[in-house]
Amino acid sequence: MDSLLRVVKNAEKQGVAIGHFNVSNLEMLKAVSHVAEKLRLPVVIGVSEGERGYIGVHHVRDLIDSYNKEHSTGNHRLFLNADHTYSLKKVKEAAEQGFDAIVFDGSKLPFRENVKKTREAVKIAKRINKNVIVEGELGYIGQSSKILKGLPKGAVIKSEDLPTAEEAFRFVKETGVDMLAPAVGNIHGMFKNAKNPKLNIERIKEIKKAVKIPLVLHGGSGISNSDFRAAIRAGISLIHVSTELRVAWRRGLEKALEENKDEIAPYKLMPEVLKEIEKVVEGRLKLFNSNL
Ligand code: G3H
Ligand code: ZN
Repeated sequence: MDSLLRVVKNAEKQGVAIGHFNVSNLEMLKAVSHVAEKLRLPVVIGVSEGERGYIGVHHVRDLIDSYNKEHSTGNHRLFLNADHTYSLKKVKEAAEQGFDAIVFDGSKLPFRENVKKTREAVKIAKRINKNVIVEGELGYIGQSSKILKGLPKGAVIKSEDLPTAEEAFRFVKETGVDMLAPAVGNIHGMFKNAKNPKLNIERIKEIKKAVKIPLVLHGGSGISNSDFRAAIRAGISLIHVSTELRVAWRRGLEKALEENKDEIAPYKLMPEVLKEIEKVVEGRLKLFNSNL
């Protein structure tokens, strides 16, 4: 079975990106896996510290394993990522639980501090499982997958504030991360009635040229289709989407409750929720793979 790193590198060669979708309950997991199975694609299931705390760290690993046992074929498979992990204790826990990948997020720290802690995270994770992938974060882009009223406080957007290719090179060299998520104009969360800020495509190209390892784009919700295409061409090979799924979850739930006022069986209400989430995931996966 191919490792996630190999799958991501393969996507890079094909000029496509792997989709990473955050889930916090069974319906979201079912919706993402249905679409991935339908399109015969590998996808990454992401669980932040809060999301995995809610589902249960063991449970989410077991769910993905049993899903893969029954449904994975050829290219199609679910990978599991411990998304935005802020403490070394949680890095250790995720590595021990056999997660395929861990995002250590030191992006709020000053550069040197971020390097130091990320390097430590890599060491701890690889000591437990030498095959686990560790991703580092450079440049703060906000922290919540939610509907935004304004830019997340402290998020870097302007090109003079974004990490440079030299900084990215040093960060990768000194930490030993397998993948890098640099701030390139992206932010976590999305605006209700407006597109997110434009991505700095030139910076993606410069960073990709400098670091060589796979680049990850966070904050996928609210990014325009043309920016996604340009970002993939510039060197992004894994894309995180969360807020759009949360919005779809709520929209589906409200609709189901509104249309079935007396219904109390969750399994009769939830198909509407799945339908809404599946629409979002399918649209994103088709776009990320439009080069195939
Ligand atoms: O790690 C999660 C993502 O970066 C999701 O960001 O909520 O803006 O789609 P988003
Ligand atoms: Zn993220």
